[in-house]
Amino acid sequence: MSQVREVAQLGAEALRLQAKEVIDIHSAEIQEVIGDMFTTLADTNGVGLAAPQISASWRMMIIASRPSERYPYAPEMEPVLMSNPSFESVGNAREKDWEGCLSIPGIRAQVPRFTRIIVNYTSTAGESISQELEGFVARVFQHEYDHLDGLVYLDRVESNRDIISEGEFVKLMGSSVGT
Ligand code: NI
Repeated sequence: MSQVREVAQLGAEALRLQAKEVIDIHSAEIQEVIGDMFTTLADTNGVGLAAPQISASWRMMIIASRPSERYPYAPEMEPVLMSNPSFESVGNAREKDWEGCLSIPGIRAQVPRFTRIIVNYTSTAGESISQELEGFVARVFQHEYDHLDGLVYLDRVESNRDIISEGEFVKLMGSSVGT
């Protein structure tokens, strides 16, 4: 049975490791991690989760964009597990927008990311998938991908002034409604 695992918090070693390639996605060990990732993410209001966030240092991540109080503008999509992902940008356009992270509660920051990317990954069924992502979903992909390389979004901010508290973020989002 899959279970909700503790989400590693900033400072935990697992978040700073280079995660390992998945060799056999059908192995019992990997299947257990995948089950726990889905169960753990479903227990949060996050839009993505990387395996290192449950202290499983494998190159796997879930993208699960859905509108919520945290991300009211997020498009709705079925959660997708991606193993051994890679990506390249389509053009060089980057956009700064707000991000948060289940491993770094209480704050938000503006992070520059490529707006359009082509991603490649292996699905849970073991198929090689290639697709283009843009906007918010492309942002979530790049955020989760960083976790596989031991990076967090704070490593990407251009200025400490782009980091704010969750409380101030909520005020900011509230004040922008209807304008
Ligand atoms: Ni994160």
